[in-house]
Amino acid sequence: MIDLDRVSRSFGTRDGTLAALRDIDLRIAENQFVAVIGRSGCGKSTLLRLMAGLLAPTGGTVTIDGTPVHEPRRDVVLMHQLPALLPWRTVLGNVMLPVEIRRLPRAEYRARAVELLDAVGLAGFHQRHPYELSGGMQQRVALCRALIQRPRVLLMDEPFSALDALTREELAAQLQEMHMSAPATTVFVTHSIPEAVLLADRVVVLSARPGRVRRVLDVGIPRPRSFGHNAHVADVAGCVAELHDLLLRD
Ligand SMILES: Nc1ncnc2c1ncn2[C@@H]1O[C@H](COP(=O)(O)OP(=O)(O)OP(=O)(O)O)[C@@H](O)[C@H]1O
Ligand SMILES: [Mg+2]
Repeated sequence: MIDLDRVSRSFGTRDGTLAALRDIDLRIAENQFVAVIGRSGCGKSTLLRLMAGLLAPTGGTVTIDGTPVHEPRRDVVLMHQLPALLPWRTVLGNVMLPVEIRRLPRAEYRARAVELLDAVGLAGFHQRHPYELSGGMQQRVALCRALIQRPRVLLMDEPFSALDALTREELAAQLQEMHMSAPATTVFVTHSIPEAVLLADRVVVLSARPGRVRRVLDVGIPRPRSFGHNAHVADVAGCVAELHDLLLRD
């Protein structure tokens, strides 16, 4: 579905050019969940911006369903580390924003917005404003806003990094549930190895800058996964250890 064919991106700087990504080859199948990990500055956000059509590659091609990506697409959503909600809108109003911008049928999507908010534990908060919510709750609203139009591709740039450890784990578990019940092709950038192992079908490990694909690890652990005492604890720990060693050796 998403195809990266020898994708490179460099940036012009005062002292010449800086290669952020080099010769990235990656094929992501429909509804697959791919996590991307790598050191700070290795080009993870750049990779997402290339897939989102916000940035053009300086070499190679990015295609979605065989069509080269030159600009943002309606069926592709990018979610950031901070929720960036509109402070004057209610929770429901924020989730409905993309619907209003695209002039989609309000009644139908309102029902979906309510469903999504309930699913992430925000029933009863629909009419609140962002300042009345904790950071974790705000990020849940941003997740609902990202999912409201049923994107086919969900690009997430460290979406849970600003949250405390427990909230982060809860949100990852909710994302896992949502992906199991209504999957989208997902590319999830994180600095947390356990989070990558919990969520992903495949983990792409990038080398330090310029980012190259150093390894792609298949995570074959059955879902739902957890860090608690379930049947797969040993598999999860094994995968985490392998990725840890890979990253550290860089
Ligand atoms: N618009 C830009 N102009 C110049 N350099 C840029 C630009 N965007 C990114 N870079 C450089 O490209 C490299 C990769 O940046 P990028 O933000 O993709 O890294 P990252 O892996 O997301 O890092 P982090 O984990 O810290 O978020 C960095 O060295 C950065 O300085
Ligand atoms: Mg980044």
